[in-house]
Amino acid sequence: MIPPKPAARQDKVSLWRYLKLFRQDILSAQPQRLYRAWMAEFKTAFFRSYLVNQPELVDLVLKGRPMDFPKSDRVSEGLRPLLGRSVFLTNGAEWERQRRIIDPAFEGGRLRDTYPAMWAAAQAAVQRMDGHVGQVIDIEPETSHVAADVIFRTLFTIPIEHEIASQVFHEFRAYQRSQPILNLAAFIPLPKWMPRFFRKDTKDSARLIRRLITQLTAERMDAIRAGTAPDDLATKIMTTADPETGETFTTEEMVDQVAIFFLAGHETSASALGWSLYLMALYPEWQDKVAAEAEALKTGDFSEVSSLKISRDVFREALRLYPPVPMMVRETTQPECFRDRKVPKGSQIVLSPWHQQRHERLWDNPDGFDPDRTKTEEGRAASRCAYMPFSAGPRVCTGAGFAMVEGPLILSMLLKHFRFKLTDSAPPIPVAHLTLRSANGIYLEVERR
Ligand code: HEM
Repeated sequence: MIPPKPAARQDKVSLWRYLKLFRQDILSAQPQRLYRAWMAEFKTAFFRSYLVNQPELVDLVLKGRPMDFPKSDRVSEGLRPLLGRSVFLTNGAEWERQRRIIDPAFEGGRLRDTYPAMWAAAQAAVQRMDGHVGQVIDIEPETSHVAADVIFRTLFTIPIEHEIASQVFHEFRAYQRSQPILNLAAFIPLPKWMPRFFRKDTKDSARLIRRLITQLTAERMDAIRAGTAPDDLATKIMTTADPETGETFTTEEMVDQVAIFFLAGHETSASALGWSLYLMALYPEWQDKVAAEAEALKTGDFSEVSSLKISRDVFREALRLYPPVPMMVRETTQPECFRDRKVPKGSQIVLSPWHQQRHERLWDNPDGFDPDRTKTEEGRAASRCAYMPFSAGPRVCTGAGFAMVEGPLILSMLLKHFRFKLTDSAPPIPVAHLTLRSANGIYLEVERR
């Protein structure tokens, strides 16, 4: 049995048909050959896009000369009303400064401090799930709930039930519904100068979310000054001075960063957990193994995480098959030559974890679910060169270590208490929205274990 994969389109279709498919979903709009190609060129009237799968070329863009391939404005513009000048969107010196201030809060050792908040969120998720025993539910709203809870607890020491936290969470749902797939504008053949219109409700939700986050951030700034702030991620980031200039973030700058922590931190983990649970229902023998291992989770001490080896392998394999960020886009700042082809300045370079991690020439059994694949030399080699759910190089996800603790922990906690089973509903169909979600929900039956 192969985990769900959207049907690719035929290799040749008209531009009109491509655009129509694109509006439905970016994944099924792509041709089958991208699972075999090292590079593919998309010519549009106004610019060119190159999807790059060859490991050496991906390395060049992300690690070799990352400063020559900044984030593309085409992609950023859809997110700007919500994210302002956050670290996810900036480039060059501004981005470097922001990472110098943010990175220390996410360093390995700090995860230990963050862990009790993750543990509390996982326990709350178990309690909520208890109310669904005997029911068939869409699992995605549940995983979004727990992932948002983790972010508020670790960042601001408040649970999702906190008034502002729950307002941000709900408003965010509205934002996602109204936000078109502008973040993938790198494929859409519109000229740069053409004004993009945000729908009024998108702008309204972005404004409201930012007002709420501003309130939390301003209150925290006051608490830091008064010496009463809790020692959480927000306090760490807001009190860390840039080692080069000695400056800390202003409240306004921090609002932009909080917006991206919330967006990048909860949407992605929610997507990964949703697919992981579906895979567990599809492969009950793996579900039982994770559940047995989860017995080690008893006290909430950070050391227990190291026993969640199977859970981590399962979560890692879920991130390979269903990368929450299925594609990333960069722009060339000078003419380049890729695989003997001239790539003009201003081209869009698309890096696709979705395609690379299912590439037929790089992976054995690319569409199959095999959490043990890293136990073979071949599997390890593919993981080293063709696995990038968190991106790579200096712009690698700041939250990668955080997510690799949070994901396996929540997966294990849920499977320790519950069994998730397939139902008669149609299998979920992966579609790329802001993150990789299911077009039709992920319906599972919940049983007490
Ligand atoms: C399974 C969970 C996650 C996945 C798969 C994931 C994936 C990614 C990817 C692929 C990028 C690079 C995007 C690009 O270059 O276009 C990224 C960037 C980022 N992520 Fe994550 N992420 C996850 C969780 C988190 C968490 C929990 C946080 C914070 C609490 C976080 C914060 C960020 C930030 C701030 C960036 C921007 C980094 C930069 O541009 O310098 N992410 N993430």
